Parts: sequence; structure tokens; C-alpha cells
Amino acid sequence: MYRAWLDGKEEEGMQMKYYMPVRVYDEKNCVCSHAEDISALGKRALIVTGKQSAVLNGSLDDVTDVLRHNGTDYRIFSEVEENPSTETVFAARDRFIPENIDFVIGIGGGSPMDAAKAIALALKHPEADLEYLYDKSADPSALPVVCIPTTCGTGSEVTGVSVLTRHDKKTKISMVHRVYPVLALIDGKYLKSAPHTLIVNSAVDALSHLYESVLNAKADDYVRMTAQAGLKLWAGCKDVLTGDKQADERDHEKLMRASTFAGMSIAGSGTSLPHALSYILTYDLGMEHGKAVGYFLPGFLDAAPADERDELLFMSGFGGIDDFISFTDRVLGKQDIARTELDKTFNAVVSNRAKMRSASFEVDETILKRIVYFK
Ligand SMILES: [Fe+2]
Repeated sequence: MYRAWLDGKEEEGMQMKYYMPVRVYDEKNCVCSHAEDISALGKRALIVTGKQSAVLNGSLDDVTDVLRHNGTDYRIFSEVEENPSTETVFAARDRFIPENIDFVIGIGGGSPMDAAKAIALALKHPEADLEYLYDKSADPSALPVVCIPTTCGTGSEVTGVSVLTRHDKKTKISMVHRVYPVLALIDGKYLKSAPHTLIVNSAVDALSHLYESVLNAKADDYVRMTAQAGLKLWAGCKDVLTGDKQADERDHEKLMRASTFAGMSIAGSGTSLPHALSYILTYDLGMEHGKAVGYFLPGFLDAAPADERDELLFMSGFGGIDDFISFTDRVLGKQDIARTELDKTFNAVVSNRAKMRSASFEVDETILKRIVYFK
């Protein structure tokens, strides 16, 4: 299918849709430049962020300066943990319900932004409980959300997805409702103070979004369009990730933009097997999201049709699958994961029919085994 697209052959009769209802500003100092867009959303904001990084990279100061300057009242919830739990979402909701919050601003990586979306939904529905987040028939409306990414992997600023940790199920599960931010403010300068490992892990996550969206049963020309744009930008930053080049301002902009394009791609297609397989590793081993996804990427690519895989690898700056494997080993380090843990991951996904069908190529039990135990 992808080959046909590369060759310029139309996919006859294929239905496509493109829905990305987020106003995106991608520019230097965009939080300050678009102060009025933020303040137009209401009189009182709830800022949702992690414990430290938004302070260190200056994004929290930028936001609070803008709010103060425009006379917008705000509260801060800075207790979002990595892989935020549903418990955190409801703790924030219960604490801030009496505060008459008008809109929510998520600042940080995927965790604060995903939490911001779920909190915005829960604040709109004070009676909602855990089941509400997973009830397709429930009203999905939420308070308006602004997202300000400070890592270069999640793409959450342009998707409606909120992935939450379910301690009751010992894994991460997306809530069923889609809460698209109304505004995404993207500024590469927030990457300047990020540790190299964080940039690497999040950039591998973005690359996985790009690959998984194209090698996806739901891929269409719109998904491929954003993925191609993202892959081109991503390829230009590879040397930064290996440490062969010192990152400059332009690299930070490109990494951030590649991540946003990748987010737009998965907004259209969803993710596929590397993400599905990663969640249990993250829950059980505390492995960072990018690293866990990166662990399964070589096997996933190896299982994909060779011409499609090679084209994707070429677009992202790799000579082939071996080159890609040595890259991931170099930037992520070699992971040694216990067989019992991989068995658990395999069993969780093999019984999930939707996940098994998420790739653009056929995946049966044998192929899934190849992907999981590839390394
Ligand atoms: Fe991801």
C-alpha cells in the first residue's frame, strides 16, 4: 500500500479523513507572542505540570508572566508524575473543582499534557469516576486545553489522546474520549536545558510515532504527508542524538517540529505494536516510554515488508535495518529484559485483536513472537 503511494499510484476508493482541530503556533517565544489567545480562554487557568522541568526550562515563568500581564488568574498543579495515573487526575479534579477553573494549560512532556486533557474532562464532569474515562457513551466534552510541549517526543499537543496509568490493571491505557487541545504553543527553546538522555528518549518516541503511523492499517495520504515531513526533519537531527554534533537552536526547533508532525500522524492513524508492547515494560520495569518503544522498533521494522521498511529507514537517514539497530543500541543502550517479562508483554498483546490488526501488514502469533523476541 505504501509502496503504491511512493510510486504515485492512487489507492482506489480509499476513504480518508483529516481531523486536527488544534490551532498550532510554532515559533520562537510563541507563549509571549500569543498571550491574548491564552487569556481569551477564560478568567482562571489551571496550570498542570511536572515537579521541576517547567521551572528549569523557563516555560512556567513564561506562562505565569503572560497570565499575570493579562490579568488572568491561575492555579498550579505540579504533581504530575511520569506516566500519570487516573488517581492523580481525580486528585487534581477534586482539589480544583471549588476553584471555578475556566481552562487548563498542560506544560511539559506527554505526562503533564495527557494529564491536563484528562483533568480538563474531569473538571467539566464533577460527578465523573474512573469508569467515565473509559465509557464511550459518556459526554466527552472538556474544558479548553492549551498544550506547551517541552520535550520532543509525545506529540500530545496535537492529538486528542490521553494515556493514563491504570494501577488497577497494572498497565497504561488511553482514555476513550478524545480531548484535542484548542491551542498548541511550540517553541524549541524549551529543549535547551533538557538532559541529553531525555532528548534521545523522546526523539526515539517521535520516530516510533512516524514509523508506526505509516506502517499502520489506518494510514492514508494525510498520515503519510505529515509523517514524511517529520521524517525529513528528524533525519536532520540524527547526529545530535548520537552526540556527534552539539545541538543548536535550529536543531531544537527541528526536533520539536518533527515531534509535532509525528503527533499529527498518529492523530490520524493511532499507534501500532511497538507502543502496545511498551506499556507493560514501562509499568513493570519503570522503563522510560521512548526506551520501551525503541526496544520493539527493530523487530517491528524487521517484520514489515522490506521495500516499505527500507524506504522509511532511508527517509530517516538510515542505510538499512542493521544501521538502525546499531543506532538504537548506541543511543538507548543495550537493554536486557527478562524472558518472563517479554512473555507477559507478548500474552497481553496477542489476545488483543485490535492491536494485532493495527499494523499495515498481517501480524499473527508467529510474527508477533518475532517482533517481541527479536533482540
Ligand atoms: Fe509514544
